[in-house]
Amino acid sequence: MKNDVILTVKNIYRTYGGNDEEKEVEALRNVNLEVRKGEFISIIGASGCGKTTLLRLIAGLDKPASGTVSLGDTPITGPDPKRGYVFQQGGLFSWLTVEQNIAAGLKARGVYGKEKDKIPHFIELTGLQGFEKAYPHQISGGMAQRVAIARSLINDPEILLLDEPMGALDSFTRADLQDKLLEIQRNSGITMILVTHDVDEAVYLSDRIVIMTPRPGKIAEILDVNLSKKRNRASENFIEYRNRILDRFHLASLEPEPEYYI
Ligand SMILES: Nc1ncnc2c1ncn2[C@@H]1O[C@H](COP(=O)(O)OP(=O)(O)OP(=O)(O)O)[C@@H](O)[C@H]1O
Ligand SMILES: [Mg+2]
Repeated sequence: MKNDVILTVKNIYRTYGGNDEEKEVEALRNVNLEVRKGEFISIIGASGCGKTTLLRLIAGLDKPASGTVSLGDTPITGPDPKRGYVFQQGGLFSWLTVEQNIAAGLKARGVYGKEKDKIPHFIELTGLQGFEKAYPHQISGGMAQRVAIARSLINDPEILLLDEPMGALDSFTRADLQDKLLEIQRNSGITMILVTHDVDEAVYLSDRIVIMTPRPGKIAEILDVNLSKKRNRASENFIEYRNRILDRFHLASLEPEPEYYI
């Protein structure tokens, strides 16, 4: 099991502010997580509990106050296309077409000339055929998120980090994109870490669910989801998991803080 670990987050602390008059926010306190190759992990928690902060640290977009994040044996010191990142707000280039947005992933790595023939495959994989020449304002929110996912996947990442990619979508589009994501993950074996507010989404997609609590942001619990890969949202088992997570989440939020932190 140990050898399967692809990502190690160890004793991470991250604090914002605290200078002059500014109030200090302990965004992450002593966060520890080991992610195995090919796993689908969801991180859930209330707004402000540090989910984006944690994902940005894994992406190398930010540095911890202390602790380490490593991919394999290599400490993460900055961004790298090996860790694809899909932003909370899509982040497409509005002046580029779908195709050009996906190509931007290759250009960022300086391999556009060599690898541009891969673009049609990723258009197809994310179900964007027929929209190659469309601009972001001409496609739906769900499609825009699929473009962002394709733009990361074309760089053949070892890990895909997704920050609430479905947050702004209606429930039908959301269910569609969830299935697409699962299909891609099953076929590619890419390790995925998804941040979400949505307990159902987490149970539907994940091998494990990381429950976080705010102020300070920390991991309250990590739950295994022992359900078959093909999940039915209406099944008794599924509902039982959802309720269990809601219960634990509620309990974790009620936990009193030790006095010396007040
Ligand atoms: N750049 C920053 N400067 C100061 N404080 C910040 C900064 N980024 C985040 N914070 C604070 O750190 C805490 C964690 O923020 P973070 O964005 O990681 O939460 P989140 O769990 O992603 O929330 P949401 O679900 O709303 O996206 C919050 O209290 C937030 O106000
Ligand atoms: Mg966030």
